[in-house]
Amino acid sequence: MTQFSFTLSATDGAARTGVIHTPRGEIRTPAFMPVGTAATVKAMLPESVRATGADILLGNTYHLMLRPTAERIARLGGLHKFMNWERPILTDSGGFQVMSLASVRKLTEEGVTFSSHIDGSKHHLSPERSMEIQKLLGSDIVMAFDECPALPADDATVAKSMRLSMRWAQRSRDAFGDRPGHALFGIMQGGVTRDLREESATKLKEIGFDGYAIGGLAVGEGQEAMFSVLDYAPGFLPADKPRYLMGVGKPDDIVGAVARGIDMMDCVLPSRSGRTGQAWTRRGQINIKNARHMDDPRPLDEACSCPACRNYSRAYLHHVFKAQEMISGMLLTWHNLHYYQDLMAGLRAAIAAGQLSAFVADFHAQRAAGDI
Ligand code: GUN
Ligand code: ZN
Repeated sequence: MTQFSFTLSATDGAARTGVIHTPRGEIRTPAFMPVGTAATVKAMLPESVRATGADILLGNTYHLMLRPTAERIARLGGLHKFMNWERPILTDSGGFQVMSLASVRKLTEEGVTFSSHIDGSKHHLSPERSMEIQKLLGSDIVMAFDECPALPADDATVAKSMRLSMRWAQRSRDAFGDRPGHALFGIMQGGVTRDLREESATKLKEIGFDGYAIGGLAVGEGQEAMFSVLDYAPGFLPADKPRYLMGVGKPDDIVGAVARGIDMMDCVLPSRSGRTGQAWTRRGQINIKNARHMDDPRPLDEACSCPACRNYSRAYLHHVFKAQEMISGMLLTWHNLHYYQDLMAGLRAAIAAGQLSAFVADFHAQRAAGDI
């Protein structure tokens, strides 16, 4: 059986391209992972998600433990079978979602107790329970259980939270055990403070993981602050393991993160904004609700080969959005995911060719030119 491994094939400055090998298939890096929170990438069939170029999806411990429960998914043959996605799945560990979605939270050294955002029922998560749930789901890449402090927060608060996350990282490692073909990633915390980021990375490397995530960013600090952390944080992590930036981002965040040495990312943006009438193209953002599209026979982007751009006009996309037809969210989500995966393919090819600077310059020039 193929074990989990990471092969780098080229670097360009801090940027890298390569392949993560897993028993369920290869993940070409830099990789963008569409978010399939509730065992579905909303408005998309799994074969359509694959057609956009995705090698891996992200699932959520928090949502799935509440509904339909990890035990039920395990009885039904695991998350891959349940949602009809045979390729790799990475699952987030739940702590981050508890903090943003659940109410009546109680955080202790042991873990976190919270009330479900669905029905108010009481639940518990800890490093051990999160590892158990992610195993029941059959996740290929399991995330350590961590806490992400709400920003802004002072250094003492961020340090205390990071150190708790590092103790939880050790407990996650111990509870995960030895599972050939499955990977466990640690999550670096430490806010926007260099010393705390370095302390966190040192601790994670001491514990030893199959990959390393950078957490606690894209939580309202702004792109400039995020990039200044990414100027040093990837360098604290082992070069021979994948580096995953959690919850990022807009296309320009992705380009900047890849240029700084990030290998994997996930974000709800392409799928969520598709359902609210936002399209992302190489020329920037398009609001399909805008009346200027009402009589426009052109596609969203004539350079895009997705079904929305090949077969439908802006006028049609505007109409179905206004009429609240379900196909609106389907087509815009498809386009957005296709655009994101095209962007990743372009980044991978540019890094492989040693042409990343020219690619990044062209990316910004096309956006500056604007739509139309
Ligand atoms: N998603 C976005 N940021 C984070 C983070 O810091 N931790 C976890 N577990 N998930 C995230
Ligand atoms: Zn398109």
